[in-house]
Amino acid sequence: MWDRKHFLSIYDLSREDVNEVVAKGLDLKSKHHRGTLEPMLKGKAMGMVFRKPSLRTRMSFEMAMEGLGGHALYISDEEIKLGRREAVCDVARVMSRYVDVIMIRTFDQAEIEGLAEYASVPVINALTDMYHPCQVMGDVMTVAEHKGKIEGLKVAFLGDGNNVANSWVNAAAKLRFHMVLGMAEGYEPDAGILERARKDGAGIDMTYDAMEAVKGADVIYTDVWAGMGQEDEVKKRKADLGHLQVNDRLIEAAKEDVIVLHCLPAHRGDEITDSVMDGPHAVVYDEAENRMHIQRAIILELLMK
Ligand code: CP
Ligand code: NVA
Repeated sequence: MWDRKHFLSIYDLSREDVNEVVAKGLDLKSKHHRGTLEPMLKGKAMGMVFRKPSLRTRMSFEMAMEGLGGHALYISDEEIKLGRREAVCDVARVMSRYVDVIMIRTFDQAEIEGLAEYASVPVINALTDMYHPCQVMGDVMTVAEHKGKIEGLKVAFLGDGNNVANSWVNAAAKLRFHMVLGMAEGYEPDAGILERARKDGAGIDMTYDAMEAVKGADVIYTDVWAGMGQEDEVKKRKADLGHLQVNDRLIEAAKEDVIVLHCLPAHRGDEITDSVMDGPHAVVYDEAENRMHIQRAIILELLMK
């Protein structure tokens, strides 16, 4: 069961938890657009710690709090120097005295787990090298919004087996959709995460052939080939992952009504072409918007139970 105190990984949630949060996200989106959100977080504050850059995560979390009457306080790691200027346990204890929930984006998953261990308030994972759970919860919501459901669909993930891919594997462990990983050798998702999902009955196939991966797909997903912190590897990764580019040829091999997701930022011309990003199948801006709605649902789940 989900340790409701924190949100560190999709794997910590049950199938019911995932479905409940996604349904809540869709409901909050509808209320947001109708202007009927209630100030359920009045008097509540979130501390936001970033050790990596962000556009979507920072803005969507700040506006998630704002829209529910709460407050968000951004602090960059230039100031905190987590684990260098001050021990993680002390940062966790001190921040817990000021805010009601902590959101952190960092490198090491163990650092988030350390923070969660010592924080007396909920901690939310806003991306590590291992996972990007808020992103994939928003992605599942986006698929549900456009397709009515995710269960039974074919979802093809093409590219680097990175933090976003690992979180998709966790989602496949919880929800019954068919996941096909279109990969390059040496860039597969974490083997332990994959094995655990398969043991849980996840329907996950892996291929090194992009065309094979997208054949008949309902959803095509891609992400950058070199993530934050991997900037030195851009050239090598382009060469190794080049055959996985999401382009018009691949779209034609998928279902006629395929939707294309990308967590963004995108490197147009690398993992995805302009024609796909700007074409009729892409739902990437809905996906970006949904980060705010799903995070509202996650924050409410953590703070109101
Ligand atoms: N998708 C996502 O997390 O974007 P940012 O890195 O801009 O927050
Ligand atoms: N995989 C990317 C996701 C960015 C939102 C990275 O870690 O940089």
